[in-house]
Amino acid sequence: MRLVARCLRGIEWICAAELAAAGAHVEAVEHRLVECRAAPGPALLGAGTVDDLFLLGLRLTGAGRQRTALAEVRAQVERLEAGPLLAAVEAVRPLPADAPFEVVASFLGRRNYSRFEIERAAGEGLERALGRRFVPGPLGADEHPPLSWRVHLYDEGGFLGLRLAAAPLHRRPYKLDSLAGTLHPPLARAAAALGGVAPGDRVLDPFCGAGTMLLEAGGEQPAARLVGADIAAGAVRSAGANAERAGVRAALLVADAGRLPLADGAAGVVLTNPPWSRRLAPAGSLAGGLEPFWREAARVTAGRVVVVLEELEDQAEPIAAAGLEPVVLQRVAVSGAWTTLGLLAPAGRRRAELARLAALGLRPMSGAAPA
Ligand SMILES: C[S@@+](CC[C@H](N)C(=O)[O-])C[C@H]1O[C@@H](n2cnc3c(N)ncnc32)[C@H](O)[C@@H]1O
Repeated sequence: MRLVARCLRGIEWICAAELAAAGAHVEAVEHRLVECRAAPGPALLGAGTVDDLFLLGLRLTGAGRQRTALAEVRAQVERLEAGPLLAAVEAVRPLPADAPFEVVASFLGRRNYSRFEIERAAGEGLERALGRRFVPGPLGADEHPPLSWRVHLYDEGGFLGLRLAAAPLHRRPYKLDSLAGTLHPPLARAAAALGGVAPGDRVLDPFCGAGTMLLEAGGEQPAARLVGADIAAGAVRSAGANAERAGVRAALLVADAGRLPLADGAAGVVLTNPPWSRRLAPAGSLAGGLEPFWREAARVTAGRVVVVLEELEDQAEPIAAAGLEPVVLQRVAVSGAWTTLGLLAPAGRRRAELARLAALGLRPMSGAAPA
């Protein structure tokens, strides 16, 4: 079947590689979208870099900026043959015969109509096509019906899709403990993918917060040994609670990332999301800047350091001084703000690292890697 995966802007190439590794045949990679053909099943539902996954119902045409697009959407949706889509959903989760549905719409570019008008037009069309009840939005967190359709319009067209899982894939059941600045799990999974965590690797997150990076590394490589540290005891408790819910073992300690109580080369990979100056100030030995952390990161691993950090580009000097060099610097948009996903390696290893990524089907988008 044809599917459309939505992901964060900037990690489309990592998401495409993950879907391909899960057996999908990737057909197109676009702004926040990866289109593929695959048998919809557990392998795809385990794709950790995907925000949301839809069975492709229709490609919509004639849906430009003018309000006539609404009637076009409604008319095209009315003609949907939904049987195979509903059967594919039922193959992965129970679906009551009379389950109502919602429609969530989004679009790129300026339009003379709103997202809610698209939802209503598509919802009315789908009511006719499905003979099921449409629940118009906006809906509260606990009010979402079991069937969720997505309309996304861009340029003069778009698509209609049906969510395969019961909830968006980015929502992780383990993540009930959270804190300010906590990471979006699919971005943490993308970091783990870049890190190339191997079985038995010790993965260290010295700013572990609620543990997202570690738990996603565990999802990517269940045989990894996870070690997390944070200067805040409350954060370490949150990470512990999330790890327990995820059924993942992680060694967690309260420590300052500028003075880690770990031996040289103790970690195979460092995956982390340091605090950044504008919203979350680094504490302890890092109150004056992240320099001690870069030195510690280079000391405790002979391998790779993958970081998610706003304005990572501004850290070029201390990163170089620590003996590390950027292999990939990928700008990523999260909730309307830009951050950078960076893969750093010991100086001189850039080519080898790019070859390692290529062997995994990970080819940075143009502009992702520094010159
Ligand atoms: C951006 S948050 C990490 C969020 C985490 N990735 C998550 O998903 O929840 C940064 C973390 O760094 C911690 N921190 C600040 N200064 C630190 C230091 N010197 N050493 C270790 N942790 C520190 C904060 O307590 C906070 O939990």
